[in-house]
Amino acid sequence: MIKEAVAKSINDQINKEYYSSYLYLSMSAFFESEGLKGFANWMRIQAKEEADHADKFFDYLNDRGGRVMLRAIDQVPTEFGSVLEVFEQVLEHEEFVTESVNNMMDIAIKENDHATKSFLQWFVDEQVEEEATVGDIINNLKLIKGDGQGILMMDRELGARSYVKAE
Ligand code: FEO
Repeated sequence: MIKEAVAKSINDQINKEYYSSYLYLSMSAFFESEGLKGFANWMRIQAKEEADHADKFFDYLNDRGGRVMLRAIDQVPTEFGSVLEVFEQVLEHEEFVTESVNNMMDIAIKENDHATKSFLQWFVDEQVEEEATVGDIINNLKLIKGDGQGILMMDRELGARSYVKAE
């Protein structure tokens, strides 16, 4: 049976993943309203991936005989600044998620839960990738310096992203 402290950290994380999904969906809606369909597409896919992350935790906790307990999702922002500011907000949020995953790993180690350590490794690796991807987008946005032509080019590029369900 999974230890209580580990189960609690997983339930907390399910809520954070859904918050992330909702946050990125809100950013997608904002980009739609700005006519930036490519950025909106990228955020919409990001939102789906976060819901997939929540699913992974949901299934894992069930597999380990724990009880999934869903709580209310906090209100997300609905208004945002420039495209660069939005992505800086994403990076800041992902850094918060990384810290959360690291804290979960600390709990699993403390509780001597090898299965959870192994399960969490996927998320540790995923966070490295997520921060790197968002960091690259921020670098490009900084190079563009808000130039309309550049923003439209990036909008086209991010519009090409397609959704792949995480395995
Ligand atoms: Fe579920 Fe973007 O971390």
